[in-house]
Amino acid sequence: MPDLYPLAGPILRLLDPETAHNLAIAALERGLIPGPAPFEDAILQTRLWDRDFVNPIGLAAGFDKDARVADAMLAQGFGFVEIGSVTPRPQPGNPRPRVFRLSADGAAVNRLGFNSQGIDAVAERLGKRNRSGIVGVNIGRNKDSAQAVDDYVSGAKVLARLADYLVVNVSSPNTPGLRALQGRSQLRQLLLGVQGTLAETPERERPPLLLKIAPDLTSEDKDDIAEVSLETGVDGLIATNTTIERPPTLVGRHRSETGGLSGRPLFGPSTLVLGEMYSRVGHQIPLIGVGGVFNGRDAYDKIRAGASLVQVYTALIYQGPGLINRIKRELAGLLRADGFASLSEAVGADQR
Ligand SMILES: Cc1cc2nc3c(=O)[nH]c(=O)nc-3n(C[C@H](O)[C@H](O)[C@H](O)COP(=O)(O)O)c2cc1C
Repeated sequence: MPDLYPLAGPILRLLDPETAHNLAIAALERGLIPGPAPFEDAILQTRLWDRDFVNPIGLAAGFDKDARVADAMLAQGFGFVEIGSVTPRPQPGNPRPRVFRLSADGAAVNRLGFNSQGIDAVAERLGKRNRSGIVGVNIGRNKDSAQAVDDYVSGAKVLARLADYLVVNVSSPNTPGLRALQGRSQLRQLLLGVQGTLAETPERERPPLLLKIAPDLTSEDKDDIAEVSLETGVDGLIATNTTIERPPTLVGRHRSETGGLSGRPLFGPSTLVLGEMYSRVGHQIPLIGVGGVFNGRDAYDKIRAGASLVQVYTALIYQGPGLINRIKRELAGLLRADGFASLSEAVGADQR
């Protein structure tokens, strides 16, 4: 199947970004966007948390919030797909417009605010999968819940047995108070609460627990997260979510919209945080690198900074699904050119 995105992309980009996204999801759901010829390369295979990843390139949270197209996106060539964020009860999110393209910057700003069909709808869809291919589940909290910890606990309770890994998202900038959960005592309480629930899940159904962090953290915040993660035995960290910063280089007319900035301008800051967390916990906790990955070189840089896996979202808006195989091909070439025999050998190479 030829890559039709060079034709379809410019048409989609004439539409409001959320409308274009909903169209893409509807088309994927109906099987109208068949996957490309498979491209896999043994050098890209990796094993983490007792799971085999055919390649390390994953779809980041936020593209498929309600688990409608997880298998369709795996068929596009992703090595894994993260669905969500899912909130316990359904909620509409913020008023539209709430997603903005900054095309000249290769970026986007969103303030969706966790629009979600809720855990029951998502659990029903995930329950119908045949579970080939790795699907992680990212959980968030309802805007109007009194007790954040209870939300994550109920999300984990329902979704644990359906997830290949579970992510506690405490880093979206669009739910008031959410990112404060990254503070030392709140984070400890939250992680212990979720782990308590996971301990009730039979061991063979118990998924690894990951924490997704923001790029906008002080060095004390990063120390705290590292310490609590090691102490509680978190299985992985995802660095990073979108940023509330606005680099002065931005030119897109929507640059001052409220929300989280993703895409190219996030590459530097998110890779820096990734490397900083790798030097704090990398010897014990695997990391997923996300933020501004547009090509194989970007993915390789994340891996050398400490990522065992890499995720993308915003680049898909601009380049479409052909991006996935391009990244994999380039990454395999870069690994070989530097003499690595496997992906895992390159993880953290810049820190050694
Ligand atoms: C429209 C949009 C919605 C997002 N929704 C979520 C979400 O629900 N949960 C989450 O953890 N991250 C969410 N993200 C953040 C991405 O998962 C990712 O961390 C961030 O966009 C950086 O990667 P990128 O530069 O490749 O897009 C969202 C990003 C975008 C652009």
